[in-house]
Amino acid sequence: MNCLEARIVKDGIVKEGNVLKVDSFLNHQMDPELFNEMGREWKRRFEGKTITKILTIEASGIGIACIAAQHFGVPVVFAKKAKSINLDGEMYTAEVESFTHKNKNQVIVSKKFLNENDHLLLIDDFLANGCALQGLIQIAKAAGATVEGIGIAVEKGFQAGGQIIRNLGYQLESLAIVEEMNWETGEIKFREQ
Ligand code: G4P
Repeated sequence: MNCLEARIVKDGIVKEGNVLKVDSFLNHQMDPELFNEMGREWKRRFEGKTITKILTIEASGIGIACIAAQHFGVPVVFAKKAKSINLDGEMYTAEVESFTHKNKNQVIVSKKFLNENDHLLLIDDFLANGCALQGLIQIAKAAGATVEGIGIAVEKGFQAGGQIIRNLGYQLESLAIVEEMNWETGEIKFREQ
């Protein structure tokens, strides 16, 4: 069991409807030491890859990405969620549908911060249906950048996102893959990696 899996077992709370609450250490209150270990592990898993930038999406990806970035020595760019914006041609845009929140967000990244010379590592806290990642991939493509890999903290292995992204051929490294969880017993099963 790695440090993230162990922390999920210790402090994660399984809610009805297959929701895993990790807000005491991952996406509300945040544990920088845990993020540092996660960054170290992604660095190990993406050894040998040239990464020029980390691309994430607001809000919860940002803290994790910033600490991970210190292991790669690169800047972090985050896609901003913008409900109504003046698209003046200076932004890459993608539409991200949230299955969980049942809404759609336009996400934007300034053209100043991504270009065809970039080799990106995409980072996010959760992978469920993969909509957020598909939005980031679309933005990377619009910039002509190369996606070298994808680092996720918690993948919900029983939802479709992981398989969709792996089938697209990306190296996807999720530090904890939840296969099953039971809100009545609180039991969580992880995929062996
Ligand atoms: P997807 O991006 O993989 O398609 O995920 P989905 O639409 O299903 O999820 C929408 C939001 O809900 C995402 O956050 C995602 O991180 C979060 N989410 C999904 N499943 C869980 C879960 O079991 N537990 C928790 N805590 N979050 C979950 P978001 O809208 O982008 O929010 P944020 O980054 O601003 O926090």
